[in-house]
Amino acid sequence: MALIYVNQETLEFHLTNGQVSYIFRVMEKVQTLEQLYYGKAIRHREDFSYLIEREVRPSNNQFDGDHTSSLEHVKQELPVYGTTDFRYPALEITYPDGDTISRFRYQSYVVQNGKQKIAGQPTTFSKEADAQTLVIYLKDEYSDVELQLSYTIFKEYPVITRHATLTNSGQEEVTVNRLMSLSIDLPTKDYELLHLTGAWARETQVQREALHYGVQSISSTRGASSHVHNPFFALCEPTANEVAGEVFGFSLVYSGNFLGQIEVDTYEVTRLMLGINPFQFAWQLKAGDSFSTPEAVMVYSDTGLNGMSQTFHSFYQNQLVRPQWAHKERPILLNNWEATYFDFDEAKLDALIETAKELEIELFVLDDGWFGARNSDNSSLGNWTVDPKKLPNGLSALSNKIHKAGLKFGLWFEPEMVSAETALYEEHPEWLLGHPKKNRSHGRNQFVLDFGQPEAVEEIFRQMKAILDETPIDYLKWDMNRYISEAFSTHLAKEQQGEVFHRYILGVYTLYEKLLAAYPELLIESCAGGGGRFDPALLYYAPQTWASDDTDAVERLKIQYGASMIYPLSSIGSHVSEVPNHQVGRITSLKMRNDVATFGTFGYELDVTKLSVEQKAEIKQQVRVFKESRGLIHSGDFYRLVSPFHSNEAAWMVVSKDKRQAIVGYYQVLAEPNPIYKRLKLQGLADDFQYQVSQQPAETEQDQNQVQNQKQARYGDDLMNVGLIFGENYIDRAQEYWAKEKQGDFHSQLIYLKAIDEV
Ligand code: DGJ
Repeated sequence: MALIYVNQETLEFHLTNGQVSYIFRVMEKVQTLEQLYYGKAIRHREDFSYLIEREVRPSNNQFDGDHTSSLEHVKQELPVYGTTDFRYPALEITYPDGDTISRFRYQSYVVQNGKQKIAGQPTTFSKEADAQTLVIYLKDEYSDVELQLSYTIFKEYPVITRHATLTNSGQEEVTVNRLMSLSIDLPTKDYELLHLTGAWARETQVQREALHYGVQSISSTRGASSHVHNPFFALCEPTANEVAGEVFGFSLVYSGNFLGQIEVDTYEVTRLMLGINPFQFAWQLKAGDSFSTPEAVMVYSDTGLNGMSQTFHSFYQNQLVRPQWAHKERPILLNNWEATYFDFDEAKLDALIETAKELEIELFVLDDGWFGARNSDNSSLGNWTVDPKKLPNGLSALSNKIHKAGLKFGLWFEPEMVSAETALYEEHPEWLLGHPKKNRSHGRNQFVLDFGQPEAVEEIFRQMKAILDETPIDYLKWDMNRYISEAFSTHLAKEQQGEVFHRYILGVYTLYEKLLAAYPELLIESCAGGGGRFDPALLYYAPQTWASDDTDAVERLKIQYGASMIYPLSSIGSHVSEVPNHQVGRITSLKMRNDVATFGTFGYELDVTKLSVEQKAEIKQQVRVFKESRGLIHSGDFYRLVSPFHSNEAAWMVVSKDKRQAIVGYYQVLAEPNPIYKRLKLQGLADDFQYQVSQQPAETEQDQNQVQNQKQARYGDDLMNVGLIFGENYIDRAQEYWAKEKQGDFHSQLIYLKAIDEV
């Protein structure tokens, strides 16, 4: 298997798997890397020199008498400061003299099968036979600092991953001011930038705008990947839509401060980079030490945004998520948060558990409020011992009860935080982030533990372990409810304060590693006040993420549509919750809430004890249907069909890999009088399969007779080109139209497709 071709004479490198090509070379004189092509696969050839462009332009040149040696005009791989390039660099180092001038020159390369893990960080993985890695070694001409650029290409996916490692082989310390995970210069600015923006309770809102001269960026400075921007962006050709056109997706496997920057220069070259945010970052690279960036993932699609998303979905599901969870059925859960908030006792929980059992739910999650004396959000974080007032019989008794009822047991923690007036807070002020003599802000009345300090991580692990050793727990919800605004560590020297944010995130990864080493079967759901840390790095540990504290079905259309740009449905935490909805006060039907939550991990978050007999029967049916459908939903191919950002409607569908089954979700937000004709073109079906189209899951229709099936059946090409038809035919039954009850606002339909065999 050759996925990496090297033209030895000219030192041209071509990564290609028949789907994508990525080509760069070593420049003869400068001995650094020039980007030649990134896009749809082209065949390999012995010479790519025709891709070199060098106009003579007024500039600063590196070599005497040479007027084409300005790096300002070269499309580069990992531009560094101090080399005549005026655009933002991907690498900047302060050397012992205080200067920041580097000149990294190519030394050698190696091609390896498979791919290596980045020590201490979540990384995508691959079998030896399924990927190849190219490592390029460069060295600074003026110092003994070495740079390794790693590129992995995968056999099955149009994906290349990248990261960079700096090693200080000299005697003196240097400071790394910025080292991006990836940087690419593309030869045109004819793209639109698509990214996800938001805030608490309205995460992952899709934004798309044309590139312009100058700099556009997305970033986080909050210590978490954040609700505000996701560490992901895509460049789309302007005509690209969900189903067609070229799209380049970029995603960072990182949970901390990041920067995604797109700079269009005056020659319309687009430089894009993605990595740790240089803001508040300065890493002291001591003699002999190495520093590695997080991994960046590049996805190429020539089948529009759905193509890009499907690649991210299957790549992250198969090459990032812990293998045991990749395609494992996720339990349908009941979470007590919106049912009780902090106000619960054993009797209330018992009633919820009993009803959960009756509804055939599979997992009961006890959320915030079970520990210390936590009756509101201003106490007890950091005291991970059970509250004897609420749970006098302890957690183990509760867990046993739940297990006896045939359910699994899940428990909430917020490991990174501490409340004032706890023993942890009083006894270890040195473990708080922030300056001891300056104001430390609170966020939700809580303070952040300095997870850059191994002792603090160890203490939290000890406390969690005490609970997990004593109590059988199947699922853990790891929450994080505030950002970091005073990054200072009492543990670090003054020169190292620029390391606080990154060390913090490495500490978070360490605790995840420790927990999973001790409890490998634990299913973890990550959460940060909803989707404040919905990123690939946490998916490596926690295969599902609570996407938003906003559980309103209408708001969720946008949030889940946006999240699906990159994250697989099996990772998008989605619940049916109370009405009027607690975040927006909207009343939607149980059906609509189910029909939206179905396209995610699925669960309930409401007081099920207060439901009417009819509502319980409806939920029981929803639970049964989801159990039948979840294999398809979590492992099929997902297609977005109609965007809730542009209309009063939304639609999406998921198709099984063998194309024999599909489920379509169609949603109309507000009712429309005297409606227009509507058709919904489907995607991903087999042209020549006949599908039974039904509003009921196929399984419950088994006893329907074949004739009826044949009448309703439609071919895949028909469904994809004509589409589902929502208008009805009222010929000869006009009175029925006027008599018909109008559907009202917040209407939804799930449509089930099943391939049937000819009779
Ligand atoms: C924020 C989470 O997103 C909620 O689901 C809930 O767990 C609360 N925190 C509890 O404090």
